[in-house]
Amino acid sequence: MNEIRPRRNRKHSAIRQMVEETQLGSQHLIYPIFLKDGKNIKQEVASLPNNFRWSLDLLLPEIESCLELGIKTFDIFPAIDETLKDKVASYSFASDNFYLDAIRQIKERFAEAIIMTDVAMDPYSSDGHDGLVENGIILNDETLPILAKMAIAQAQAGADIIGPSDMMDGRVGFIREALDNSGFEEVSIMSYTAKYASAFYGPFRDALNSAPKMGDKKTYQMNPANKREALLEAQLDFEEGADMLMVKPALCYLDVIALLKENFPIPITAYNVSGECAMVYAAAQKGWIDYQRVVSEMLLSIRRAGASAILTYFAKDFAQFTR
Ligand code: PBG
Repeated sequence: MNEIRPRRNRKHSAIRQMVEETQLGSQHLIYPIFLKDGKNIKQEVASLPNNFRWSLDLLLPEIESCLELGIKTFDIFPAIDETLKDKVASYSFASDNFYLDAIRQIKERFAEAIIMTDVAMDPYSSDGHDGLVENGIILNDETLPILAKMAIAQAQAGADIIGPSDMMDGRVGFIREALDNSGFEEVSIMSYTAKYASAFYGPFRDALNSAPKMGDKKTYQMNPANKREALLEAQLDFEEGADMLMVKPALCYLDVIALLKENFPIPITAYNVSGECAMVYAAAQKGWIDYQRVVSEMLLSIRRAGASAILTYFAKDFAQFTR
């Protein structure tokens, strides 16, 4: 019998805690929230139980209760009425946009809340794509000025972190320059750097009714088979001025999180996406798994892989059951 016995470091909970390598707390979590225009709305998303489309009047107290639980950062996504969608996503920077107005009001009411916003055309596009569509092609360079306008409008409304989620080439540099030229040097960019063409986004697209009207997103989102390509995406986003690099989804891509963590000196974040969370809710509702333990283990694994922060629909529940 070898004299090295790893179990000695596991013999008591105090020792286990002493040698624990990974920490996970509410400060690491970003809570994605769906916003809808109107009043007194709290609609559960059918494919994402426990998550709602909120109108601002009901969202404000919800944000307050999250802040009390230690969740400080929120990524807010708008559900846009079909009648406001068009080919060029013009509602995304319209002066009467309810989403921009809501960001303004949230920032006014809660100085301590960090608000992240999403930059991509899909929720506002009549084509349901992240870029401008012409003859079935998603145009790259023609999309960039639209993204920049959207980013500036969000920064004007008070967004602290802009999240370009569209995967067009060159958008981080384009948006950075546009923000800087408009006096928003302080606004951060958390780039969706390695965003894969994944089947795990289904419930999110249900929540926003934002699925592509034709085709798929494979000409701009990454092929799940590729890992080295994530290094190229990360290098470009880093050089173009991203403050944080995101990997999305999280659970099937822990190797990509670890790779970027090793190779880039800025924070790596991960998006624990809607489909990943939906599977857990479903199994928990059936009584097949222990919800709290599975959620904690998943989030811990994403941290262990190297993520500084995690966007997750479990944020509030986790904060609640670990308080
Ligand atoms: C929009 C966007 C998507 C998600 C975040 N921003 C969907 C998509 O690319 O189709 C997915 C988030 C989730 O599934 O939780 N560009």
